Amino acid sequence: MQIVFLGPPGAGKGTQASIVCRRFGLAHISTGDMLRQAMTGDSDFARGIKAILSEGGLVPDELMVEIVSNRMAQEDCKNGSLLDGFPRTIAQADALAGIVDIDAVVYLSMELEALAQRIASRRVCSSCNTICNMQLLDSIEMICPDCGGELIQRDDDKMETVRNRLNIYERATSPLVDYYKQSGLLISIDAAQPIEAVGREIVRVLERLS
Ligand code: AP5
Repeated sequence: MQIVFLGPPGAGKGTQASIVCRRFGLAHISTGDMLRQAMTGDSDFARGIKAILSEGGLVPDELMVEIVSNRMAQEDCKNGSLLDGFPRTIAQADALAGIVDIDAVVYLSMELEALAQRIASRRVCSSCNTICNMQLLDSIEMICPDCGGELIQRDDDKMETVRNRLNIYERATSPLVDYYKQSGLLISIDAAQPIEAVGREIVRVLERLS
């Protein structure tokens, strides 16, 4: 099964991707995680990626297509994969159509105004990448519920960067909703529901495809 998750920053793509990949044995391809990993090196390439992410901009389409097609050729993607954060432009979607046949595009739909609050509450585990909502944690200590690692805020979760990311989403990525609706692949899910309810709904619709 080849699945794409589409939705604005903070809609819950990463959170739901973990649930869905575990359930269906899919490889989780998060372009955001891959780019955050790539920017840790000491090279012009790493510094270039870091500069784009810290402003909330988009990495050029050509580079993203190369990164994703190389990743999809790896062994763990043979049984299917879930793309989280790609495609993000019409050009990326056109390129993806030449790489793989997509079974469904799960669109996590949410009012843009509610997203800033979610993003402000996000903390990510510095060792295992688990995503948490500070307001939903049982403990007031900032430690990962999965591995006990330190929970940190992403650099691009600062408010002025978030505003830019939301504007870019509106301009460059939201046209993909109509693009995939027209191809009959779009499955819309109300992402404002609690995490478990969103997960149950996605699993239910994907079970019909598998
Ligand atoms: P990326 O990491 O993909 O960021 P994003 O798309 O902006 O999405 P987010 O990670 O912010 O949100 P999410 O939807 O995954 O939400 P999450 O589950 O974390 O990309 C980062 C950057 O990389 C981009 O800005 C760009 O620069 C670059 N990039 C990446 N891909 C690219 C591409 N293809 N082309 C060009 N550039 C690219 O949840 C958010 C918070 O809400 C968490 O705290 C979570 O616990 C909480 N939460 C989730 N669901 C719920 C719920 N139902 N109820 C309550 N809380 C919830």
